[in-house]
Formats: sequence, structure tokens, C-alpha cells
Amino acid sequence: MAFSLSPEREHQVDEILTRYPERRAALLPVLWLCQRQNGWISPEVVDYVAERLGLSTAIVKGVVTFYTMFFDEPIGENIVWVCRTLSCDLRGGKAIQERLETRLGCSAGHTSSDGKFTLLKAECLAACGQAPMVQINDRYYENLDVGLLDQIIDAHATEGAEAAAAKFATHASFGAPRTGERAPLSSAPPPPSEEAVRLASQPPPTAEPSNASGDES
Ligand code: FES
Repeated sequence: MAFSLSPEREHQVDEILTRYPERRAALLPVLWLCQRQNGWISPEVVDYVAERLGLSTAIVKGVVTFYTMFFDEPIGENIVWVCRTLSCDLRGGKAIQERLETRLGCSAGHTSSDGKFTLLKAECLAACGQAPMVQINDRYYENLDVGLLDQIIDAHATEGAEAAAAKFATHASFGAPRTGERAPLSSAPPPPSEEAVRLASQPPPTAEPSNASGDES
């Protein structure tokens, strides 16, 4: 069956197209809108986007397969990205991934048998200071330990993504407002040392007057 966007999203596509001198430049945001509605970029979505933007299906497919945030096969109701880069790894990222694999019953790159979660590994998601962390759908869940992770997964499975985000999300990505209070930190950051406080309270050093002529005599 042919794919079509909702009237509201069609209107958004019209607005996106006004931003670019070439229709091709709108490919990423239009694909994103389609994935938001359909869950993944099906062959029907590829056909729709190609026709809407006047492109070949080969170009659309090439972009979909290049970017990891586009899915060319069906995925779970929730997408869990577990960060496995250095900062998260040093703070227990491996244990977080292993717990997710046990809880969801699938390894990274796969979907749980109930279709509720797709688990994916991610490179640094730019929240290193709050490691270890995962992204679930559009939200960040930071300063994790296994117990907190279990609560977050339980909340997604039983209460839904929005309710879980309202309880536990630390940041909403894509510019969306935060929907809940910050989850309690599993370990508070250490206070600054006395030396750091002393250095921070000192006035900045004054620059030596420069010798404009460079004449040292
Ligand atoms: S290393 Fe995980 S967010 Fe940067």
C-alpha cells in the first residue's frame, strides 16, 4: 500500500521545502518526518520521498542506509541506544549493556521478542560527564547503575515512554522540553578541592606591557 503523510506532516514538508533552493536538500528532514510517523523507512516511504522531492529511489535509499538514525527495517516500540565509548565504558557501560541484553533477551542490534525494545550500541552521545548513560527514543538517561536502569526499563514496559521519561529522563534531545524532574544521581560529583577553590578566587594575572618597537636596548 502506498505511503502518505498525515495532512499536518504534509504541511510541514511544504514548510521545509521553502527553506532550501533545491528540493534535494530537504531529504534528511523529510525522511525524519516520515520515520516519525511510520516508525521506519519502508520501501513505500522511499517511493513517497523520491516522488515528493523529485529524486531517484537509489539516492533516497543511499541516504537511508548511510545514516544510523534511519531504520530500513521494522524496529521495536522503543529504541535503546547504549553508549559504549570511553567515558561510559570507564563508568560501567559494559555492565549496562549486559544488563540490557539480559533484561530484553536480545543482543545489541536486535529487537526483544515482544517487540517493545530495539537495543543498539552507540558511539559517544555527548553526555560523557554523566556517564554511563543510554538514550531511549528521544531522551537521555544518565548517571546510571543497574538498579536505576531496571526501573527505567520497567517504566517503559508498563507505563509507556512518556510516563517513563517524566519520571527518569535527565535530558530531552531534539530541542524538546524536559518533561520531568531530574532523576537522583547515583553518585554525587566530588566537591572541588581547596586548591581549585583558591585558584578560582584569584584575580587573573595582568599582562606585561608589550614592547611595541621590539627594541630591548
Ligand atoms: S562516552 Fe558515553 S556519552 Fe560520551
